[in-house]
Order: sequence, then C-alpha cells, then structure tokens
Amino acid sequence: MKTLHWFLLLLIIAFTVLRSVEAQNQAGFISLDCGLVPKETTYVERSTNITYKSDADYIDSGLVGKINDAYKTLFQQQVWALRSFPVGQRNCYNVNLTASRKYLIRGTFVYGNYDGLNQLPSFDLHIGPNKWSSVKIRGVTNTSMHEIIHVIPQNSLQVCLVKTGPTTPFISSLEFRPLNNETYATQSGSLTLFARVYFPSTSSSFIRYDEDIHDRVWNSYTDNETVSISTDLPVDTSNIYDVPQSVMKTAAVPKNASQPWHLWWELDDITAQSYIYMHFAEVQNLKASDIREFNITYNEGIRWYSYLRPSKLSISIFSNPKAVSSSNGIFNFTFAMTGNSTLPPLLNALEIYTVVDLLQLETNKDEVTAMMNIKETYGLSKKISWQGDPCAPQIYLWEGVNCSYPDSEASRIISLNLNASELTGSITSDISKLTQLTVLDLSNNDLSGEIPAFFADMKLLKLINLSGNPRLNLTAIPDSLQERVNSNSLTLILGENQNLNPKKESKKVPVVAIAASVAGVFALLVIFAIYFVIKRKSAKNTKAPGPPSVASGIVKSETRSSNPSIMTKERKITYPEVLKMTNNFERVLGKGGFGTVYHGNLDDAQVAVKMLSHSSAQGYKEFKAEVELLLRVHHRHLVGLVGYCDDGDNLALIYEYMANGDLRENMSGKRGGNVLTWENRMQIAVEAAQGLEYLHNGCRPPMVHRDVKTTNILLNERCGAKLADFGLSRSFPIDGECHVSTVVAGTPGYLDPEYYKTNWLSEKSDVYSFGVVLLEIVTNQPVINKMRERPHINEWVGFMLTKGDIKSIVDPKLMGDFDTNGAWKVVELALACVNPSSNRRPTMAHVVMELNECVAFENARRQGSEEMYSMASVDYSLSSASEFAPGAR
Ligand SMILES: *[C@@H]1O[C@H](CO)[C@@H](O)[C@H](O)[C@H]1NC(C)=O
Ligand SMILES: *[C@@H]1O[C@H](CO)[C@@H](O)[C@H](O)[C@H]1NC(C)=O
Ligand SMILES: *[C@@H]1O[C@H](CO)[C@@H](O)[C@H](O)[C@H]1NC(C)=O
Ligand SMILES: *[C@@H]1O[C@H](CO)[C@@H](O)[C@H](O)[C@H]1NC(C)=O
Ligand SMILES: *[C@@H]1O[C@H](CO)[C@@H](O)[C@H](O)[C@H]1NC(C)=O
Ligand SMILES: *[C@@H]1O[C@H](CO)[C@@H](O)[C@H](O)[C@H]1NC(C)=O
Ligand SMILES: *[C@@H]1O[C@H](CO)[C@@H](O)[C@H](O)[C@H]1NC(C)=O
Ligand SMILES: *[C@@H]1O[C@H](CO)[C@@H](O)[C@H](O)[C@H]1NC(C)=O
Ligand SMILES: *[C@@H]1O[C@H](CO)[C@@H](O)[C@H](O)[C@H]1NC(C)=O
Repeated sequence: MKTLHWFLLLLIIAFTVLRSVEAQNQAGFISLDCGLVPKETTYVERSTNITYKSDADYIDSGLVGKINDAYKTLFQQQVWALRSFPVGQRNCYNVNLTASRKYLIRGTFVYGNYDGLNQLPSFDLHIGPNKWSSVKIRGVTNTSMHEIIHVIPQNSLQVCLVKTGPTTPFISSLEFRPLNNETYATQSGSLTLFARVYFPSTSSSFIRYDEDIHDRVWNSYTDNETVSISTDLPVDTSNIYDVPQSVMKTAAVPKNASQPWHLWWELDDITAQSYIYMHFAEVQNLKASDIREFNITYNEGIRWYSYLRPSKLSISIFSNPKAVSSSNGIFNFTFAMTGNSTLPPLLNALEIYTVVDLLQLETNKDEVTAMMNIKETYGLSKKISWQGDPCAPQIYLWEGVNCSYPDSEASRIISLNLNASELTGSITSDISKLTQLTVLDLSNNDLSGEIPAFFADMKLLKLINLSGNPRLNLTAIPDSLQERVNSNSLTLILGENQNLNPKKESKKVPVVAIAASVAGVFALLVIFAIYFVIKRKSAKNTKAPGPPSVASGIVKSETRSSNPSIMTKERKITYPEVLKMTNNFERVLGKGGFGTVYHGNLDDAQVAVKMLSHSSAQGYKEFKAEVELLLRVHHRHLVGLVGYCDDGDNLALIYEYMANGDLRENMSGKRGGNVLTWENRMQIAVEAAQGLEYLHNGCRPPMVHRDVKTTNILLNERCGAKLADFGLSRSFPIDGECHVSTVVAGTPGYLDPEYYKTNWLSEKSDVYSFGVVLLEIVTNQPVINKMRERPHINEWVGFMLTKGDIKSIVDPKLMGDFDTNGAWKVVELALACVNPSSNRRPTMAHVVMELNECVAFENARRQGSEEMYSMASVDYSLSSASEFAPGAR
C-alpha cells in the first residue's frame, strides 16, 4: 500500500536549483520583488534568470523590510526584501494586466524574522473585492506560496493583503504569468493551487522558469514505495499546457508492481471543489510483448479513467471536466493494472487545484479609474482606507465614499465627501466620470480655478458643496450650471452669502444645511451633508433670520449634538476589561455589520461584545452614532446597551446577551431545536414591530432604523424578540417634514426602492423593510433567490398568490399548523408594507395593531374558538399594491 500526503503549499525552496538549458523571453511576466529599494532597482535572479523589479510603482503604502541576513543564503534573491503593512486594514497592489486573459498569480511569503519579533504572521489575500486565500506562516524560514489561476476581468487588478488578527501582513514577492486561456478551464470560479508535483529520482529539486515557460513551480516528490523511471529521449509535450520536458521525462511507478497503487491527499476544507490534472507519457522503451495498461479510480471505485495506455514519449493530460469533491476531504486514487497489462501503472506529474468563487463584483471600472486618478491628482494616499476597490466589499468602503450595490451589477459611487482633505489645484474632470453621484462635498480645501461646467451634465447630482475654498474663482458660474440651480434640480453651496439655492417658492423654501461636527469627543463624527426640507416658519435652525440662507454652512444638528457627557464614565470599559470579560475573545457569537461579536460576562450577567474593526473611519463613525443612540433608547423590544469601550484603537459595544441568536438562524433551523411555531412567529413579529414603533414614535427625536431585517431581530432565552443594530440609524429633526436625505445604506432586498431611487429617507422605509421581514416569517423563503420564478420575495409571494392559495407560500416546516385567516391577514399587511409608494404604506403603529389581532386569532385558535375569524377585518386596499390580488380563499 502506498500513501502520500502533501502539506498545503509548504514548498521549500532549497538552494540547489536545476540548470536551465537556454534563457527564454519573459513576455508578459510581471515579477515584483516587494520592498526592493531603491525603487528603480532591477536585477536578474541567478538561478532562474527571471528579471525582478521593485514593487514601488504598484503600491503606495507599506514599509520596506529585509529578512534576517543569516537566512539569506537559503533563498532566492526575490524574497530577501519584503514589504509589510502595519497601518490600515487592507493594502493593495494595482497591476496593469490584459483584460479577459488568464493569469497565474503567485504571492510568496518568507518571514525570516524581519521585524525581530519572532512572531509568525497570519492574514488574508484578496483579489479585488474577493478573498482568495489565507496566509499562515508556519516557520521563520518556511516559504509559503499562494497561487491562483484567474481570468482578469478588467485591465487592471488589485491584489490586497488584509489584516485579520494582531499580526502584520507582509509579502516577499508577487508574480504574474500569462497562461494560455484555454488551459485549466473550470465550470465556474478560479483555481487555487493545492499541489503541483513531479517524480524525479532524487528529491529536493524543483523546476520553474525557464524550463517551464509559464513559470509554474513543480516540486519534486519521492518516497520509499515508488521508484522513478526516466528517459534521455525528448518527450513530445507540445500542447497548450506547455508542460516542461524535465517534468515529463521522469515518472513514478510502484515498487510492488503486483499491488494496486494508492495515492491520496486530504484537503483542509471538506466542501472544497477540486480539479485534478494528471500528466502521462511512456518513458520506458517497451518490448513488443510489453503492455502498460491500467484503470484509475478514486474513493471506493469512482471511475476516473479505464484502460489507460500512456503514449510513447508523448504527453496525455487527464483532468475532470466538472469539479469533484469528497465528503471527508480525502481523495484516494487507485491505479490498478488491467488483466492484459505486463507493467505497473505510471504517473509523470500531478496538479491539484481547488475552486475559489470570486463572486463579489468589482466597482464599475470607469469609476475605479476615476477614483484612482482623483487619489493621485490630490495626493490622497494618506487616506488609509483608500486602498483596493472603492466600494467593495462594503466593510472596506473608502472613507468619504458611499456606493449603491445593485443586484448582479457593478457597484456605483453615489456620494463623495472630500471635506477638509487638503485638496489643491483645480477641480479635476475625473469627477465627471462618477455619473451616479448625488452628493459631492469639496468644502474646506484649497481648490483654485473655476467651477467646471461638467457639473451641470451630472444628471443625478443634487448637492455640491464648494464652501471654504477661498481661492476658487466664484465670479464665473457656468450658465448650464446656473440653469440647473434655477430649475431646482441642484443645490450649490459656495460659502458665506454666495450660495446658489434653488429659487424661492411661495410657501416652502428649501434650505440647505450642513451638519458639521462639533469639537470634542465627536470631532471624528459625521461631516456629511444632510439635506432637509423645513417649513419656512420653523427655520429656526438657521442662524440668521430673514431669507433662508446657509449661514456659513453650519447648522447645528440638534440631535447629533455636542453633548459629550452622554458618553458616561460609568459605562466606559477599558480594553483589558474587555479581554477579561470575553476571556480573550474565546467564543464568537457572530459577525455583524462592522465587526465580530463575542460572548462575555459582566458582573455575572452574560453579555455580547461587538468589537469594531478599528480600520475605517466609517466604522468609527458608526460606532459613535450607535453608542449615542443606544444610550438614549430604552425599550423592552430593543436590544439594550450595557457599556462600551473606546480605548485607543479598540472600539467595542457591550450589549445585553440574546441567548437564542437571530430570527434568521432560528427560521433556517441552523440553531437546531424546534421549528418556530406560528404562534411564536406572530409573537416575534408583534414584538419587533413594537420595538420599531417605539423608534418611530416613542423617541425624541424620532429615529429611522434603516436596517430592519431578520438577522437584526434577536431572541432571548424565552424567544422574546428585540430589535438590534442601530448602527445605521440617523436621527432627524422632529420639526418640519420628516425627510432626511443621507447616503443610501441598508441591506439589499430589504431596501425601500423609493428611498433607493430618491434618497429620501422616512420611517416608511423601515415599514417597507419590516414588510419584507413579515413575508420571511410567513414563508421562510430567502429574500432574494435568483433560482425562483420571481427572485424577490415580494414579487414571488404576489406571483404565487395569483396562482394558488395561501398554503402555497406558507413555510412547509409548519406542516399546515397555522391559522389560514391569520396568515392571510399577515400577508396582506406585509404586502401593504412593501407597497412601492411610501404614502400607501401603513404606519408602524397600525402594523402593531394589526399584528396584535393576528396574535389574538392565533391564541383563540389554540383555545379552539373559531368565532373570531368572521370578525377578521382587512382594511388595506391591495389592488394598488402590486400585481397581487387576493385570490381564492
Ligand atoms: C542565464 O542567462 C545567461 C545568459 O543568457 C546564461 O548563460 C545562463 O546559463 C542562464 N542561467 C540560467 C540559470 O538559466
Ligand atoms: C497602468 O496604466 C495606467 C493607465 O493606462 C497608467 O497611467 C499607469 O501608469 C500604469 N501603471 C503602471 C504601474 O504601469
Ligand atoms: C484569450 O486570451 C486573449 C489574449 O491572449 C484574449 O484576447 C481573449 O479574449 C481570451 N479569450 C477568452 C475566451 O477569454
Ligand atoms: C515549516 O513548518 C513546519 C511546521 O508546519 C515544520 O515542520 C518545518 O520544519 C518548517 N520548515 C522550515 C524550513 O522551517
Ligand atoms: C517507508 O517509510 C515509512 C516512513 O517514512 C516507513 O514507515 C515505511 O515502513 C517505509 N516503507 C518501506 C516499504 O520501506
Ligand atoms: C485508500 O484506499 C485503499 C483501498 O481502497 C485503502 O486500503 C486505503 O486505506 C485508503 N487510504 C486512505 C488514506 O483512505
Ligand atoms: C477496468 O475498468 C473497466 C471499466 O470501468 C472494468 O470493466 C474493468 O473490470 C476494470 N479492470 C480492472 C482490473 O479493475
Ligand atoms: C486482452 O487482450 C485481448 C487481445 O488483445 C482482448 O481481446 C481482451 O479483451 C483483453 N482483455 C482485457 C481484460 O483487456
Ligand atoms: C475668474 O474668472 C473670470 C472669467 O473666466 C476671469 O475673468 C477672472 O479674471 C477670474 N478671476 C480670477 C481672480 O482669476
């Protein structure tokens, strides 16, 4: 029996290297020696003849370092220097490549105790907005190589190092090699390398460029149960894979020829999908009577290939056309001679890959280019979060940027805030490429020159703030821009007494207000524009009486006031206390919007500790907002804040512990336990509705939650429901009409389409999201499911109801144990809530009332009383709600 086990990508680059026959050109190669200084340096590496250059032109962050001199002789030169990233959560290389070409991308990591800390780092690698791999350094002198075979979607690519723990990410070299794009085909996804081996007679040599013209690294594998056979004659390897001669000239055959040969490996991730490439060529000079023929099967007899006879001195490559997986991660291949065979099986080389799905789309490429140019033009590399994709993934959104995230389309930038960013020079035309922009804030900089006319052509732009730029030439406003201002479609803020507001109307006058943060604890808070309509009479917010104007751009937003005392001392907890409380972050409860949630104990009570990734100012902003709100809000159906931590870089929120997790998990059965009964569900619905109703009507000033969804409804040990995560809430003034235009935020699927389109936020947006939650509670269907006749749950329910009855949509897990009339009532209520027009949606107060009736029905039903049904009243006109009309009932 033969076993063989490869450690994941622990390839040891030994000092001995094979000589190559002739140098070939390195067309299309990009070979970066990371951290090489000075930045113009290039050199030819001695053992491979690959020309390396410094990475300085491809990245604008990080520190250069060198591995300890004592280790240098162990390695090729490109890993002597390295670049490390102590600052920022995500740091990215930008590389120009050819769009829709297939590349092999390889990161190499040798720690070599460069920082003298003797602490082995681990971190993640991303390609654009998607995670590619996790790097875990296993020894001071271990080499980790991570390879991906990837079709480049656009003509530039970002490779990012992402901090995932206390250690600092670093990289030694980064290489890009074009491949023939017909090779290594997958049904979907890209391929990461697990192992690539050949079988020479002596171990510890590897093959790469220039024997392999694509510079794949082939590691040698030998063991005591196979022998290596080889040939001196050339092997015909001419096909699109370009496997090197030296790889194909040797092959492994089992020592014990009579026994089947077992070759196995184990993947860490048992769900991984694999592609396996086997390379065969007959390298022995066969006699006329000799036959080498074998069957290949794996994992208890699954057929791979039968009656295989390797061609004489000519390559054949076998791989699986569809990805394969194994339930325990083990792939155990058996090579067995067939009846007529006189020689044992053979294998020349083997490649094993796993599939990585890079599903998150990059931001629209013109907008990425524009943002890169803006960053370059104004020297904004000091903005730490301005790395990688501007919008995606959302957790690494650039500071001052907000985006829309349409389903299955590239993200778009909808607002850009460069307030006080030390911008100099003229306003760059790159801004005109951000065609979906609605808010642009360039205030408090040192811009000069004229106001460009292209602003007028940016159709969605509603607000431009240019105040606080003393050198800007304000005498010449382009006519087209003036026209847009006159026609009320755009507000232009220029500074004291120079604002161009939309023309006055008889009664209502729009006023522009800039809510700026006030000194003190909140200095880092929000510096973004709120745009609200207030009645002229109640324009008391503005400083100056008389005609509405922007009083030097500052209107104190009373809700987000400068009152720092709210951050009370008593509830402030230090970081060491957090460590103790969570027992060094022993138990993860979940991952939330802006960080990981851990279990903790505070004064004998259980708590949930939400650690915020201290990377982005975005996170910090949300943190402050959330603390402020939660300390003010108390309701039995809102998750209470017990304390918070704001200790240097460490931000945390400490909440009451909700033992039963969130509603989504409970519905999906992920937590095990019983199916939530109809009664439970109605109770949860009404409690969550009460929490939301309190935010809308019980708080002064009222609040919009902005992110109502099933994962934000938490259950305690008695399945009592509370609404969580006010991170995205924004208070708005109670005076005046309840509209606040802010930057669209929320979760796709739950997002009010009207809010999304107009940017006008009101409580009715929460009502919409709550309607979606109700539909989930009834149906236990995903909000968006592309495989369904109608992807969005709202449309799906409407569609199903036109064809069938209520039973066709109610969660089958309830096994029919629910009250039909009650279910109708809830569905009708939910559909009223998701009415596309916010005016037609009920208020939360009304929703609570209706749901209370549903609970009463259910209680009555449980008690066997049937009378109440006849009294069911439904008072929402649904005919206008959607395509749905109440069908047979
Ligand atoms: C590198 O290139 C030089 C000059 O072309 C050649 O003499 C040498 O053999 C090459 N070395 C390797 C390792 O390919
Ligand atoms: C990448 O391409 C852009 C535009 O084509 C160019 O401005 C930039 O200098 C290139 N970057 C590098 C590192 O070659
Ligand atoms: C294959 O690669 C070429 C560049 O070599 C590229 O132009 C072409 O679009 C690619 N074809 C496919 C199907 O990706
Ligand atoms: C690499 O790490 C492994 C532990 O995973 C260790 O056994 C091995 O000796 C290390 N190799 C080197 C060269 O340090
Ligand atoms: C092969 O080596 C392993 C240990 O590396 C040993 O346990 C095994 O007995 C050896 N087998 C043979 C056939 O020598
Ligand atoms: C591989 O399969 C063979 C025969 O089916 C079995 O004897 C052997 O134990 C298996 N190896 C592993 C690691 O599962
Ligand atoms: C080889 O595979 C064929 C077809 O799968 C099968 O009929 C045959 O019995 C196999 N032979 C051996 C020796 O396993
Ligand atoms: C063995 O070879 C003979 C003659 O070539 C053929 O008829 C027979 O089917 C073969 N048997 C197997 C098991 O392949
Ligand atoms: C401002 O622009 C106008 C029109 O282009 C020009 O006449 C004027 O000289 C400029 N003023 C300054 C201070 O540059």
